[in-house]
Amino acid sequence: MSLEPLGIGMIGYGTVGSGVAALLRDQAELYAARVGRPIELRRVLVRNPAKAAAAGADAALVTNDPDAFFATDMDILVEVAGGKGVIGDYVRRALRDGVHMVTANKSLLAADGPELFALAREHRAAIAFEASCAGGIPCLTALQFGLMANRVQGLYGILNGTCNYILTEMTRSGKTYADALCEAQHKGYAEADPTLDVSGADAAQKLAILASLAFGVKLDEADVPTVGIDTLELEDARFGAELGYDIKLLAIAERTPGSDRVSANVQPCFIHRDQLLAQVTGPMNALSVYGHAVGHTLYYGAGAGRLPTASAVVSDVLNLAAGWYPAAFGAMALTPDRQPDARLVAPADLRSRFYLRLNALDAAGTVAQVTRVLGDRDISISAVLQHEVDANRFVPLVVTTHAAPHGAVEDATARIEALDCVEQKVRLVRIVDMP
Ligand code: NDP
Ligand code: HSE
Repeated sequence: MSLEPLGIGMIGYGTVGSGVAALLRDQAELYAARVGRPIELRRVLVRNPAKAAAAGADAALVTNDPDAFFATDMDILVEVAGGKGVIGDYVRRALRDGVHMVTANKSLLAADGPELFALAREHRAAIAFEASCAGGIPCLTALQFGLMANRVQGLYGILNGTCNYILTEMTRSGKTYADALCEAQHKGYAEADPTLDVSGADAAQKLAILASLAFGVKLDEADVPTVGIDTLELEDARFGAELGYDIKLLAIAERTPGSDRVSANVQPCFIHRDQLLAQVTGPMNALSVYGHAVGHTLYYGAGAGRLPTASAVVSDVLNLAAGWYPAAFGAMALTPDRQPDARLVAPADLRSRFYLRLNALDAAGTVAQVTRVLGDRDISISAVLQHEVDANRFVPLVVTTHAAPHGAVEDATARIEALDCVEQKVRLVRIVDMP
């Protein structure tokens, strides 16, 4: 081994940063042998060095002075801090100096990815971002390189470990939403601001990145209509279970057959419990990708946490160190800076099956009125469920539909809410049948 060590500067020493430092320290010999040169963590930038020291950082490496940090001789900037403002400025500063970047920061890439990729290219730097989507699962590598021969038709993902953990604990162990969220935070799965997780924003950012790569388009977070798990009612999970469904926060992107239009959505969905994605529990993530040549492929693993995420970050570092990744990044038109804007399916035109739960008066003619509203809009009913109770009370009535346009179902929902025999809002949940 004769080459000079490769210098790393890292911003952040929290859950992910401490894991990256531990891997680089504990596996130094293995990594040096793999890429033919030692990898050296030279400097760490944080706001509060005492916190980093308490997390085990080598005090000699840690600074809170950005100028001292950028004066360090570094070949790769590892950004594991998160956020867009000042962190975005640091990233731009490094890219302008021709420093390669590894990042786990989906919010930055979902908002400014095309600009940052173009800036990197201009300065002969590369950006590796495997950890930004689905933590430790190498699904970006699969999409960009392993599936390059395919036209991707659809992506179906469980992309937020915090939400999947909360839903699993609530539905399988009967925990409250607040207790399950608190546990996810303690285990290091949640974002610094957990509303990003439970509102679905984190999954939407990841889907924007994944769908851009899968479909070869520019698509950002604002193009992804998003509903979080914070609006979910446990009663719906129970009715869904009676009908054979599990509830999951699904990130879905599809290409309309025979057209170049794409749709991307994040929302709590029912999937039949026989589907592979329904078996994904706890903080685990999974991504189903359908390619025109390969058919169905599925990627599964830890989507969050210290070492799983560090695994993706350090693998990116090693791929940069080995030299093939910068060459591929520079030569290929794989990132959204080189792609056209996405042509989106109008939300009202999106076809799917739906679950409706209404509070309906248990009296003669109620079901007839509800089904007439649906029938008038050409929405075909798949199942109806109501438990026996004393007559003349408002009771939950569940209806599932066959595939219908979302706009027609929303219109029918508004009409049903206006019926005298129905009180309160209708709860609407998408039912997803995999291709
Ligand atoms: P933490 O909150 O645990 O750690 C963030 C670190 O970044 C802290 O050391 C913090 O320093 C530092 N930091 C934040 N802002 C600044 C700043 N302006 N200047 C210098 N340092 C700063 O976050 P995580 O490790 O959980 O997440 C980091 C990134 O990885 C995020 O982008 C996240 O989305 C992503 N990610 C996280 C996963 C996880 O499982 N946790 C999984 C996949 C991706 P200080 O404490 O001194 O403020
Ligand atoms: N907060 C994220 C999650 C971390 O729970 O999945 C991974 O991006």
